[in-house]
Amino acid sequence: MTTSMKSHDPALDALWMPFTANKAFKARPRLLVSAKDMHYQSDDGRQILDGTAGLWCVNAGHCRTPIVDAISRAAATLDFAPGFQMGHPASFQLATKLKGLLPAGIDHVFFSNSGSEAVDSALKIALAYHIANGQPQRTRFIGRLRGYHGVGFGGISVGGIEPNKKPFAAQLLPQVDHLPHTHDLAHNAFAKGQPAWGAHLADALEQIVAARGAETIAAVIVEPMAGSTGVLIPPVGYLEKLRALCDTHGILLIFDEVITGFGRLGTPFAAQFFNVTPDMITLAKGVTNAAVPMGAACVQGKIYDTVINATEQGVEFFHGYTYSGHPLAAAAGLATLDLYAAEGTFARAASMAPLWEQAMHSLRDARHVIDVRNLGLVAGIELESRAGRPGTRAYDAFVDCFFNQGVLVRTTGDIIALSPPLIISEAQIDELVAKVRRALEATN
Ligand SMILES: Cc1ncc(COP(=O)(O)O)c(C=O)c1O
Repeated sequence: MTTSMKSHDPALDALWMPFTANKAFKARPRLLVSAKDMHYQSDDGRQILDGTAGLWCVNAGHCRTPIVDAISRAAATLDFAPGFQMGHPASFQLATKLKGLLPAGIDHVFFSNSGSEAVDSALKIALAYHIANGQPQRTRFIGRLRGYHGVGFGGISVGGIEPNKKPFAAQLLPQVDHLPHTHDLAHNAFAKGQPAWGAHLADALEQIVAARGAETIAAVIVEPMAGSTGVLIPPVGYLEKLRALCDTHGILLIFDEVITGFGRLGTPFAAQFFNVTPDMITLAKGVTNAAVPMGAACVQGKIYDTVINATEQGVEFFHGYTYSGHPLAAAAGLATLDLYAAEGTFARAASMAPLWEQAMHSLRDARHVIDVRNLGLVAGIELESRAGRPGTRAYDAFVDCFFNQGVLVRTTGDIIALSPPLIISEAQIDELVAKVRRALEATN
């Protein structure tokens, strides 16, 4: 049904909402006005259980006092400091703290304001590194089908989500190939944790290398666990294979950990969970508990040293953002990392993961469900699509969840993704499952 533009509240007119069905939203708005810990409050005064940590980002729960206080102190002390040819202490402190959380060897941090910018920064760093390293012909990027790396031209080019690329196809980066995705219900439906089948899918990199020549390839970028595309868990051995192939061919491996960073899988980063160390990690979201926008491209020392030492005098890398390492974001980041450490947030996620797995798989017999998959505190619940109308069933379930069950879930196509704040209690996990089950029952 198309909604007349006149039927909605004119106060909603001016905003062009991102990744939103604007007409449908404005006809029946879903407005959040405040939040605390595990809950949002809607404009009509209802408590909404947050099943998605906002957008996979509020890992410590909402409006946590130490973070709120740190931001307000920073705003009153140093509102802004230029990051070009100048600095301020908090951004250096946060980089040092992040180095302590990142896998050994990944020890330099380039700040951005979002995941998309982190990805584009990492792609540029890869090119700069190969030039500085005497291999300027390594210009090709390899992404993966169904990958999500934000919305910059770099990110959508290496990404593999068709609707995000199609209108812009004429101007995507020209030298990009894609690995196949790893999602296969025929082999892996209802797998708990990492599916056993599919490591061989990484061998597609060999075919790309054979076709293009290893000496033309700058980097492979993947999400270690694909989130936005509907929770695709890497098969056992898959990431190890990618790492080995990249090593063999001198290709940089980038893990986009915008979702998986900061405890989502029970370790600081997915790299530690899978015990596979990439050359670069992109992060965002949980670095500030999403209270202030921030992202980063984090790199191994060899990359930083090579780029920095290639220039004798002056600026070594012509890239940066006005708000790189912004004082409010840096303050929020420092307070967030302290809070994660004080509360043992990542270890807590790890300890809740078995219970989470059990609860999620109890939805196996819920209406419409054709797959349940899980890892850490993430789950994907895939629904059978309506004939000729893919995506509409999960969307209707999402709307029912919000209005009738009082729970926030996220959908991609006909997949419901759940990724709550890592402070979720056992009782709240049960509540989440019961509410999703009821919404599925109510959805035709
Ligand atoms: C893996 C990954 N990369 C990049 C991004 C883009 O981040 P942002 O929306 O902050 O630009 C996202 C966002 O969900 C993401 O999941």
